[in-house]
Amino acid sequence: MTKSIKTQSMFATINRLSKYFRPNKYLLILVVILSGISGLVGIAGSYLLRPIINNYILPGDVSGLRKAVLVLAVMYLTGVVFTFFSNQIMVKVTQAIIYDLRKDLFNHVDGLPLSYFDSTNDGNVMSYFTNDIDTVENALNTCFSLMAQSFITVVGSAVMMFVLNIPLTFFTVLCLAAMVFIIYYNGKASKVYFKKRQKFTGTLNGFIKEMMEGQKVEKVFCRETANLNSFRVHNNELRIAATNAFTYSSIMGPMVVSVGFINYTFTVCAGGFMVINNMLDLGTLAAYLLFVRQFSVPVNQFTQQINLFLAGIAGAERILNVFDQERESDQGKVTLTSARDNENKTMVGWNVPDQTKLVPLKGEVEFYQVDFGYESDRKILNKINLHAMPGQKIAFVGSTGAGKTTIINLINRFYDIQAGKITYDGIDIKEIKKKDLRNSLSLVLQDTHLFTGTITENIRYGNLEATDEEVKVAAKLSNADSFIRRLPMGYETMLHNDGDNLSLGQRQLLAIARAAISGAPVLILDEATSSIDTRTEKLLEDGMDAVMENKTVFVIAHRLSTVRNADLILVLDHGEVVERGNHHELLDQKGRYYELYTGAKLLQ
Ligand SMILES: Nc1ncnc2c1ncn2[C@@H]1O[C@H](COP(=O)(O)OP(=O)(O)O)[C@@H](O)[C@H]1O
Ligand SMILES: [Mg+2]
Repeated sequence: MTKSIKTQSMFATINRLSKYFRPNKYLLILVVILSGISGLVGIAGSYLLRPIINNYILPGDVSGLRKAVLVLAVMYLTGVVFTFFSNQIMVKVTQAIIYDLRKDLFNHVDGLPLSYFDSTNDGNVMSYFTNDIDTVENALNTCFSLMAQSFITVVGSAVMMFVLNIPLTFFTVLCLAAMVFIIYYNGKASKVYFKKRQKFTGTLNGFIKEMMEGQKVEKVFCRETANLNSFRVHNNELRIAATNAFTYSSIMGPMVVSVGFINYTFTVCAGGFMVINNMLDLGTLAAYLLFVRQFSVPVNQFTQQINLFLAGIAGAERILNVFDQERESDQGKVTLTSARDNENKTMVGWNVPDQTKLVPLKGEVEFYQVDFGYESDRKILNKINLHAMPGQKIAFVGSTGAGKTTIINLINRFYDIQAGKITYDGIDIKEIKKKDLRNSLSLVLQDTHLFTGTITENIRYGNLEATDEEVKVAAKLSNADSFIRRLPMGYETMLHNDGDNLSLGQRQLLAIARAAISGAPVLILDEATSSIDTRTEKLLEDGMDAVMENKTVFVIAHRLSTVRNADLILVLDHGEVVERGNHHELLDQKGRYYELYTGAKLLQ
């Protein structure tokens, strides 16, 4: 279930990200050292002004001045070179960190349960990978080395000011406290809006994605204007949040600069007074004033970078929230293994812990009193019982929304049941490792899904070890071969965008070929032939018999011709099995099945 988005503290966020910094810690330390040295060089350069004025300019020592200027030049040049290298390293480190973050995010999202995707907008998920990752990247790229340098400059300048003149420093410290106060409170306020901005960007992306996918429907129902209006609402939300975020954060700069100027003005007055009264020498005042300026530069820079920094934190928090979503849990310990039996034949079976013998893989599926609802307060399936013996054909019929697809979702453990038990070859499916459970099932879903790649690759998805020849055999069995060969590139035709360049029926044929190639003993067909014409379906049926041979098959079909031969037909209504039996038994009962059959409701 989706956890509520909690506002984490900035430090907690940085702390949680620190594991990504760790592999690069030596480079990061180097960045800190290099940019620290640049900071120190700046401080030393400013300090040199004191001897330059007091020892060379005032006494008129030209050759001394020349040497001092040379030293100054060398120092500043070193500073520039060090900054250059620290920036170069930081670019590499940032990309390495972002690479890891993106990889972990993908891995995590890929392992989230289906219930997460049911309740989350796809565009929003995309936004984590693009927009939110980008903000973190920008923040890292610019803020890290700058912060190290700023820190050294602020602390170093403060120390130097302290060394130069204690009373004046007292006032500077007050001003620094004021700056920190402004940055802290302002940052806190604007971070809230930065987070909103990221959230609304996600919503907007989701909306755009839906618009693109729904183009045909949108056009045919002339929803363009209405859609544009909805877009305007989302766009406006984003505009307001972004305006607020930047308004807050851009107030900060001028406020901090003003404090810096107040500090400077005060120092000129008080310092000037001290010099006139011989309490301070001119060189010290000049150097001190340089430090006052130098000290506000990083604070200033920081306020300019704070936008990037806060946006980065907001992006990171959204990403961390995804990491907080629980992945599909898998406590299953039973695995599929192959072993040699007494006659030295390879057999595949379930390896049950504490049991020496493998349980043979047969494809027997049983439901005991299964209750299920997608949301805990709305029951969809009620006390489902069924027993599919190996090799049997089980058909589910019932009107739309009766719960046919839902039953299929449970065998795969796409969702976990609330009560009852489902077993596979007598083993509770909760005990079986999900990967192995799913390996022992092949499936053609109601909504087929094809990946970007060639037709061969798409069929081979069902069994990665299949040869090109086996792919062709599977395609022939599922009657897909003839249309594939008619395509200009044949089996090498590239599919894009979920197979947009094929008809719905052709896509279903490929999905069936994909299931045919898998060696799993249980085959699940959810309206797999709903978009295939009757003639092709007839041809397919012959091939399918070969595919189905020796397999336990669960079939949901909207044509009765496909259902008629099933060993067992379950008639579902509102999530309950209302009738069960074979075709003739059910017709004789003159109940719901008879009604569906004679009403030709299944025979569209
Ligand atoms: N992912 C889901 N989240 C919540 N409810 C769902 C989901 N999928 C289906 N349902 C609900 O479950 C019920 C059964 O749906 P389904 O099993 O898909 O029916 P069908 O028999 O047409 O295949 C429907 O009332 C539907 O609204
Ligand atoms: Mg369905």
